[in-house]
Amino acid sequence: MKPAVYESIAECIGNTPVVELHDSLIPKGKRLLLKLEYYNPTFSIKDRTALGLVQALMSVGRLAKGGTLIESTSGNLGKSLALLGAVYGFRVIVVVDAKTPASVIRWCEAYGAEIEMVHETDENGGYQKTRVARVQRLLEKYPDAVWPNQYDNEDNPKFHYQTTGEEVAALQMDAVVGSVSTGGHLCGLGRKIREKRPGTTIVACDVEGSAVFGGAFHAYLVNGAGLSWRSRNTDLQVLDKICISTDQEAISACRLLARDNSLLVGGSAGLVICGALASLMQSDTKSAVAIIPDTGANYLDQIYDNAWLVTKGIELLTRAQLDECLTTKLILEAPALRSGNGIWLVDNEELLPVSE
Ligand SMILES: Cc1ncc(COP(=O)(O)O)c(C=O)c1O
Repeated sequence: MKPAVYESIAECIGNTPVVELHDSLIPKGKRLLLKLEYYNPTFSIKDRTALGLVQALMSVGRLAKGGTLIESTSGNLGKSLALLGAVYGFRVIVVVDAKTPASVIRWCEAYGAEIEMVHETDENGGYQKTRVARVQRLLEKYPDAVWPNQYDNEDNPKFHYQTTGEEVAALQMDAVVGSVSTGGHLCGLGRKIREKRPGTTIVACDVEGSAVFGGAFHAYLVNGAGLSWRSRNTDLQVLDKICISTDQEAISACRLLARDNSLLVGGSAGLVICGALASLMQSDTKSAVAIIPDTGANYLDQIYDNAWLVTKGIELLTRAQLDECLTTKLILEAPALRSGNGIWLVDNEELLPVSE
């Protein structure tokens, strides 16, 4: 077979591999498939999101060579937009915060992007709102610039519906499990799964401390997942179940995956692995596909650094402890959230009302 030759690195986005996880935490006779989004050019699912946003802006003439794009991001989308700025010749200004790993910032700069760092937290103790406020100030300064606004722009889920969703729908599964921040990738691909594979359970995973599914916001360590509010691209109609895990559970799952299964994944993938394993353990779901958003290479100085974990007060769970957590983990029904009058549990003790 003739090897494919691509015109640019942008054409190498998507068509990521799927690897079956063989781990004793998976109940006997069940299967867990991992869709490895770190096989995208900047090693995260955000390359797809960025391509969808940029293509949509370019197709209507709002962005072209020489133009300026500004976006708020915790890191991964910034790298992806910076890459596309280099491919298509537009200027990229990335608004990041103090939680963004230094290596991610260097990465954006290597592609020629400019960095705007936000240090102040918002009233919730997070950075997302202050980042968006900075974007708005920059738009006043550069009136011709475009802001893709990954949170509310429907081109984000639309692109995942058209592309990622097709790839996932080609797999045999009872459940699709993914993480949520803007909600773009899971809700977009989930909509395709609803059409092509009705009956598949869509499980959304989030981190304790995020407010996406109505809990009170507090700071957390896992990068990429969660938000201090629920963005418009998180469409509750597409979701069946919600699974919230702690930093400790997610990071422990990541470390176990690297050590015992040779897979180096980011913290949000740890949340997804926890959600997928809990679903397989607790329901008649026989097979699940987990969307792995990014690589652990982004976090070698954080969740893969034992000294850093000590400073953050995280003690890694043993395999047996993680097993116990996941066997008893609460998996919430999304329809209760949709109705707006349901209740959900953050953990076994704490009962919080849903804030729609
Ligand atoms: C590592 C990682 N995981 C998960 C997500 C959540 O993806 P989405 O914004 O599509 O919900 C992101 C988004 O930035 C991410 O970078």
